[in-house]
Amino acid sequence: MKNCIIVVGSLNMDFVVSVRHIPVPGETVLGSAFKMLAGGKGANQANAAARLACKDTLVMMAGCVGADMAGEQLKAGLAAAGVDISTIQTSASHPTGVAFIAVDELGQNSITVAPGANLELSPADVQLLRPNLQQAHSVLVQLETPLGTVERVLIMAREAGVLTMLDPAPAQMLPPSLLSLVDVLTPNESEAMALTGSAGGGVDLEAAPAIAAELLAMGPRAVVLKLGARGCYYTDGAASHYSPAFPVAVKDTTAAGDTFNAALAVAFSERMDLQMALRFANKAASIAVTRAGAQASAPARHEVD
Ligand code: ATP
Ligand code: RIB
Repeated sequence: MKNCIIVVGSLNMDFVVSVRHIPVPGETVLGSAFKMLAGGKGANQANAAARLACKDTLVMMAGCVGADMAGEQLKAGLAAAGVDISTIQTSASHPTGVAFIAVDELGQNSITVAPGANLELSPADVQLLRPNLQQAHSVLVQLETPLGTVERVLIMAREAGVLTMLDPAPAQMLPPSLLSLVDVLTPNESEAMALTGSAGGGVDLEAAPAIAAELLAMGPRAVVLKLGARGCYYTDGAASHYSPAFPVAVKDTTAAGDTFNAALAVAFSERMDLQMALRFANKAASIAVTRAGAQASAPARHEVD
């Protein structure tokens, strides 16, 4: 059985400060706790997938760190979680990516990323994955590595008949040529707005089907619209399904979307039916928001079960 999940994406060291409220432009606020924690959308997805997958599933990650202590720590953390890190490169010229994250009292965040070595991950680097694709069930990508690299991965995965999942984060417009290489597109509300060129930050639940349909028309085979505390909405044109999140006490929403994507890939790799897969992903992400940190918040499989 093809049961390898490959994640291609970023690794960042997150510099996290707890604040009463997120500062507006020109404002200085005094924070409280400061922590350096493992993050990066790609690494978060790989870590969560490894924690959620069954033992017979291999999770691999391709990415690029700097030749520094942060890079070593991030790789060691992933390896400890069970991720195969043999295709993570080291840049001689750029430092490991960092993210500056403020988390407020409601668990909402504001994130600024300095990508560093993540931008060194080239299309040639990801060619190394070609042999692994033969055993892969799915490939997960996001947008913190160069777009040309993301596109190369999607092309290779499509050629190998592997399920492709694109988390279009951070938000940006994407060409139809790239979106048509995607099997499952998983924007959050603001990313959905950016992709469709719409104004405003939120998506009313009533508007979710129309927005998801608009995104579907841009080329992917299916869309899962992530709706924060309300859960998610899925459509592939033939089937549509709304799946609620779980009511929880929110501590920190950082990487909720990453955990969601990882859980969805794990569920699909285990051939769960659609409704069960969406429920599994919502459940994993709902647990993640009750805890601090990106990778630190990802649940283990037994917790979701
Ligand atoms: P992030 O950027 O913080 O990683 P995101 O913005 O990509 O996340 P969201 O739509 O905010 O994605 O959340 C992803 C998933 O996390 C949701 O679909 C839901 O399952 C879960 N989730 C998010 N916020 C909450 C919440 N307040 N309560 C319960 N579950 C939540
Ligand atoms: O999705 C959350 C992640 O976004 C953080 O871990 C941070 O590193 C940024 O990449």
